[in-house]
Amino acid sequence: MSNKIPIPPVFTHFSCSDSLDFTDEVTAAILSRQIVQHQHGGQLLAASQKYRIPEEDWIDLSTGISPRCYPLPQMPTRCWQRLPEINDGLETAASAYYGSASLLAVSGSQEAIQRLPLVLNRDTKKLRAGIVSAAYHSHQQAWEKAGHEVVVLDSSDVNDTIAALDVLIVVNPSNPGAEQFATQTLLDWHQQLSAKNGTLIVDEAFIDSTPEQSLITQKPKTGLIVLRSIGKFFGLAGVRLGFVWATPDLLKKIADKQDDWSVSHPARWAGKQALKDRHWQQQQREFLKHQSQRLKSILEKNIVHKWQKNKHEVTLKSTNLFVYMQTSSAEKLHTLLARRGILTRYFDNPHALRFGLPANEAQWQRLEQELLKIDSRF
Ligand SMILES: Cc1ncc(COP(=O)(O)O)c(C=O)c1O
Repeated sequence: MSNKIPIPPVFTHFSCSDSLDFTDEVTAAILSRQIVQHQHGGQLLAASQKYRIPEEDWIDLSTGISPRCYPLPQMPTRCWQRLPEINDGLETAASAYYGSASLLAVSGSQEAIQRLPLVLNRDTKKLRAGIVSAAYHSHQQAWEKAGHEVVVLDSSDVNDTIAALDVLIVVNPSNPGAEQFATQTLLDWHQQLSAKNGTLIVDEAFIDSTPEQSLITQKPKTGLIVLRSIGKFFGLAGVRLGFVWATPDLLKKIADKQDDWSVSHPARWAGKQALKDRHWQQQQREFLKHQSQRLKSILEKNIVHKWQKNKHEVTLKSTNLFVYMQTSSAEKLHTLLARRGILTRYFDNPHALRFGLPANEAQWQRLEQELLKIDSRF
């Protein structure tokens, strides 16, 4: 049997024949691209190949991850050598930071997103899960993959629909939509669901800038699950660490489905340092607040005000980590910026772009210059 595979179009600029040997490095790249297909932001290598711009020349605004990450000290060699153990101080640091001990460490909140539809399965009964849009697409994927029925809702439709739902998933503040939900609204929804044995899942991956808005309280509540991430506010997405806050029986069900070493020793060590450093966290809150205001104001000045004058519909919403721009020209603007080496995240339903924060002053200047060049009759 031949061990040759065809080359997908994205790789055709490589100087080689129309099929490859399984042993070479290019084949490894092609195979891994075919096997692992993520739809997340931050796919800089793919953008670099598509637009033929070297990786180092891009301004990557395609994620909501803080460009300023927690400055981790040198990691002790034992973290690489020894298997992870619980109660190494991570759980204590997490319970002090989140304000409750009823937590389970997971390998990014993504792990919990994928496990929850399996864990909440009631006697193999198919559940009806409502997801408030625009929400991080992995929620919908995970619930559909587990065979449940998914209803995608506008926040304004929740009150009319909640009686027919078993589970409601809300991302607060929402990503990408940047919508913020009042604590009382969420608690009312939780009450309505838990009264009929239902569950409210609140994904708080982007809430660390405004921790007072979190639903986490010291004592967990039946029918309420909160997800937290170390990736966004701390800028440590590569560490793969997050937490689930829920009642202990539910945490046990998730833990039973976890790999024994789902959170690596380096991740546990890094997370512990970041969660303990209150001084840095306070500085980071101030920093992100200032940076997101700057981003919002340059987008308002260079796009929104100009476009609105020309009756071109465009709206902005923001969190402290990204700005969400809704406009029918989103795809066109995404492509135009990408051709100039600025990567944003494009969403097609509704048509919108997400702009993350530039990483340094040079990037801020370049972004503003490029935005300035965009024609007001775009
Ligand atoms: C809203 C939301 N929740 C959860 C995640 C998963 O994050 P992580 O697994 O890094 O904690 C993401 C990632 O982009 C996200 O946007």
